[in-house]
Amino acid sequence: MTKRTVSGIQPTGNLHLGNYLGAIRRWVKMQDEGECLFFLADLHAITVHNDPALLTANIREMAAALIACGIDPDKATLFRQRQVPAHVELCWLLNGTARIGWLNRMTQFKEKSGKNREGASIGLYAYPVLQAADVLLYNATHVPVGEDQKQHLELARDIATKFNADFGVNLFTLPEPIIGGPAARVMSLREGTAKMSKSDPSDMSRINLTDDADTIMSKIRKAKTDPDPLPETMEGLEGRPEARNLIGIYAGMTDETPAGVLARFAGQGFGQFKPALGELLVEKLRPISKRLVALKQDPLELDAILLKGAEKARALAAPTLAGAYQAMGL
Ligand code: TYM
Repeated sequence: MTKRTVSGIQPTGNLHLGNYLGAIRRWVKMQDEGECLFFLADLHAITVHNDPALLTANIREMAAALIACGIDPDKATLFRQRQVPAHVELCWLLNGTARIGWLNRMTQFKEKSGKNREGASIGLYAYPVLQAADVLLYNATHVPVGEDQKQHLELARDIATKFNADFGVNLFTLPEPIIGGPAARVMSLREGTAKMSKSDPSDMSRINLTDDADTIMSKIRKAKTDPDPLPETMEGLEGRPEARNLIGIYAGMTDETPAGVLARFAGQGFGQFKPALGELLVEKLRPISKRLVALKQDPLELDAILLKGAEKARALAAPTLAGAYQAMGL
């Protein structure tokens, strides 16, 4: 089986450090290791209400952000989900295979719908089926994501297995979620037990890739921590989620192990570690935000890149979609 990497991101506002360390930074590495398709999940974004003009702007913003982070459209196929209608078509076909009981277990739906479950959109509920279509369409073998997407990928595997069995075909490849590294789950700077997220109302909870140096330094300085010095080993981080998170972020940015970072900072307090982390982030993120500003100057070029990517993706998707229709007798 040939290796094919596929992953997506919702174009909802700024990229934050969780997206960058949990997914994008690894995408950039993977584009040199084999065929990759990366897309803007703009159809997933409409499962909650979005202002249309803002969504249009966010799509370009996210395309620019991915390229600024190092995604090279000449190496990886970069496209918008909406421009490859096969995603929607296959999603509908897979709705016949996905079970209500499976979707009822999805923790992200429970979190996002909260107490207002009855008022959530059908799209938010069926969201993981579209995500399954996203990867099964291309026979993805590797899907690099953060920890929070693991359950959705397991569902995609269940759907693929059931479809192949129900129709007696070997159409869909089972995708392998690639989750790992010290920053598979980057946590909020305000609360070490909540993930860093675009939907957190407090901007102080996350570092955005567009934050300026002063903002980054101040967010890190004000990040919640504890009064103890850093321990020598990972065991010493037990029960200290905020400390563990900051060490993980540092390690993610320098491609070190958290244990390696601890070995250097052991015995120091956050008064010393925080400025070091802040400066590291400023230094690493500055070139990205500079490129981002430049790329945003040319929206037509961004649109052209995405269109070209969609053309390639459409050609790759067509045989699988045709195979699914055929298997079902349509
Ligand atoms: P999204 O847009 O919420 O996030 C994009 C990627 O960033 C990762 N991520 C994190 N990683 C570590 N720590 C965090 N705090 C953190 N926050 C976000 C996510 O795990 C993800 O890898 N449903 C997906 C988009 C999607 C997709 C797909 C992904 C649609 N179709 C098919 C893979 C394959 C989502 O909303 O990701």
